[in-house]
Amino acid sequence: MNVLCTGGAGYVGSACLRRLLRAGHEPVAYDNLSTGNRDAVPNGRLVVGDILDRESIESTLRDYRIDAVMHFAALASVPVSIADPRSYWLTNVVGTKTVLDAMVACDVRLILFSSTAATYAFASDMPLTESSPQDPQVPYGTTKLTAERLIHDYSRAYGLGYTFLRYFNASGADPDGNYGEARSSESHLIPLIFRVATGRREKLTVYGNDWPTKDGTCIRDYVHTDDLAHAHQLVLESLEPAMARAYNVGSGSGSSVLEVIAACESVIGRTIPFEYAERRPGDPAILIASPEKLERELGWRREYAEMSRIVETAWAWHRTHPDGYTELRQ
Ligand SMILES: NC(=O)c1ccc[n+]([C@@H]2O[C@H](COP(=O)([O-])OP(=O)(O)OC[C@H]3O[C@@H](n4cnc5c(N)ncnc54)[C@H](O)[C@@H]3O)[C@@H](O)[C@H]2O)c1
Repeated sequence: MNVLCTGGAGYVGSACLRRLLRAGHEPVAYDNLSTGNRDAVPNGRLVVGDILDRESIESTLRDYRIDAVMHFAALASVPVSIADPRSYWLTNVVGTKTVLDAMVACDVRLILFSSTAATYAFASDMPLTESSPQDPQVPYGTTKLTAERLIHDYSRAYGLGYTFLRYFNASGADPDGNYGEARSSESHLIPLIFRVATGRREKLTVYGNDWPTKDGTCIRDYVHTDDLAHAHQLVLESLEPAMARAYNVGSGSGSSVLEVIAACESVIGRTIPFEYAERRPGDPAILIASPEKLERELGWRREYAEMSRIVETAWAWHRTHPDGYTELRQ
């Protein structure tokens, strides 16, 4: 299939581009390079454009005879969304609406949407299933849930087939060293740990040691980007117009911040200095996904089941690309 990947120059999008190419599809990245990297796009098929630019999306959909859209492009930092919700509503909601309008105009009827654990209510029982209550507590989650509802309404009115993939913590890197996490401003735990390990940061900050968890730090569910990309392939190949689906993409178990630090220390062979700070607003204590529906309905299986393997691939990337992709070095 010819697949338009908005945000294809980003971390998860570029992993999916590689997977699609290996599976014989023809992906095209569409990205404004605000946080993404030109060098992350494996086949050089990148249209530099903004998801707020409807004309540019429409001409890309037509030029490349697109069959399906994978909509990764978004702003995705919880703390920044609290400080500046305006840009989050614009990119994540108006941007998604613009993509949908262009799809309807060009009769492209299949969309996979990168949604998030942040759409779920904080106090839910773990692990979260797709029918757990959704009640986001931060603008990032609110804008993503609003985008889900927009897509649902467009599906009913215009016959689009959609699947929401609600990721938990995307992590790891390409075992062959072709992609990894490389943002100029980073907020994710594992790349932050490796910034300390490679001397680009003095120490790590751990937000809260008084959470109601086994060691007092937050628990999250980590899933390797290759496994995430495999889920996208399975969803794409089973998606049809007018279909309406949602899947969690996670592991079914969680690791605390201290456990992730320990896993990284054991892979790199030295200790990571850290300090505790106050809890951050918008952080729930525990987020764990049930992947049962994705496994049962689409036969998804994780290749990277152990945290140590996820961390090994991430460390191999950060060790060899301390400054990210080449263009970040210039
Ligand atoms: N990384 C995670 O753990 C995680 C977890 C849950 C959901 N998600 C979702 O997955 C998607 C991808 O996340 P990621 O970690 O790869 O983020 P990322 O920042 O690496 O990638 C986002 C990409 O979108 C592009 N982009 C942003 N605004 C754009 C615009 N207006 N027009 C065109 N391109 C634009 C950026 O340049 C970047 O390449 C996002 O939608 C995010 O909300 C990520």
